[in-house]
Amino acid sequence: GLPSRVTIYEVGPRDGLQNEKTAIPTATKAELIARLLDAGLSPVEATSFVHPRWVPQLADAADLETLLAERLGDVARDLPVLVPNERGLDRALDLGLAHVAVFGSATETFAQRNLNRSYDEQFAMFEPVVTRAKDAGATVRAYVSMCFGDPWEGRVPIEQVVTAGRRLLDLGADQLSLGDTIGVGTAGHVTALVAAFVEAGVDVDRLALHFHDTYGQALANTLAGLHAGVTTYDASAGGLGGCPYAQSATGNLATEDLLWMLDGLGIEHGVDLAKVVATSVWLSGEIGKESPSAVVRALGAG
Ligand code: HMG
Ligand code: MG
Repeated sequence: GLPSRVTIYEVGPRDGLQNEKTAIPTATKAELIARLLDAGLSPVEATSFVHPRWVPQLADAADLETLLAERLGDVARDLPVLVPNERGLDRALDLGLAHVAVFGSATETFAQRNLNRSYDEQFAMFEPVVTRAKDAGATVRAYVSMCFGDPWEGRVPIEQVVTAGRRLLDLGADQLSLGDTIGVGTAGHVTALVAAFVEAGVDVDRLALHFHDTYGQALANTLAGLHAGVTTYDASAGGLGGCPYAQSATGNLATEDLLWMLDGLGIEHGVDLAKVVATSVWLSGEIGKESPSAVVRALGAG
């Protein structure tokens, strides 16, 4: 059967905004995060402590955290952030943040393009990050990108993805988020991938699924994930998102689309759909770009 409750891991402020062309004021980002929390979303991934030249859109990460701490108090420390290396971890720990995420690649080419490291070197870069984060009492999520297809290498073999995921868990990561970075995956592939992780001894409770909706398959893929027992889904309010280092990556699964389907299935999530829609409509006005989500269009018009 399907799970009775799922966790939505909101990535809009990070995955959504890292890919926007226009500069977004730090105060607008803080407002977005406050609204998403008010809608009941938790966790909300706030930003990335990456190199500011690599992702200028999130170069204000420290300023944003300061603003969030003023506005939200201790809640701000519970918002996860991306950290690729020890420099990023230092920046996050200096601010007292409690949840970090490393992000690896299942393929050689994307490791080089996104992290300036070879496939093997990425694990060497993450090792002290995970160890030191855990020692400091932080939880560590590990993303695996290109779990289905890669723009340069084509279809990615399932065993290759399981190997990459296992290496990240072996470093000490608490949770693994399997990313369809360019949105080419389909439901049968999801079923096979999750089954392969379970066969490799990974508890399904430690898996999350991260779908981009490039080919319109994200909801179908989510349903396959639900049938396989996965209970954590990454989504982005309004369906913003994409990776500046992966050609042909478009937005994430829209949080609203996910909520609509979960409501229909009677699966609990604890989020107020109307508030998320209102937030996406507001954000569209701020960034001058319409949401690609059909649910936002249907519900947000009135
Ligand atoms: P690099 O150029 O190899 O860095 O970049 P380096 O280690 O050689 O260091 C060079 C300089 O950068 C040094 O300064 C460092 O201190 C500084 P210098 O000594 O020359 O003055 N530096 C930093 N400064 C601030 N913060 C840092 C940092 N690190 C080094 N963290 C690096 C390597 C990993 C930093 C770079 O490649 C990078 O920042 N990449 C991030 C790319 C990115 O953010 N991509 C998007 C997120 S991934 C994604 O979206 C996929 C996901 O959604 C899942 C999915 O969809 O599949 C998660
Ligand atoms: Mg992503």
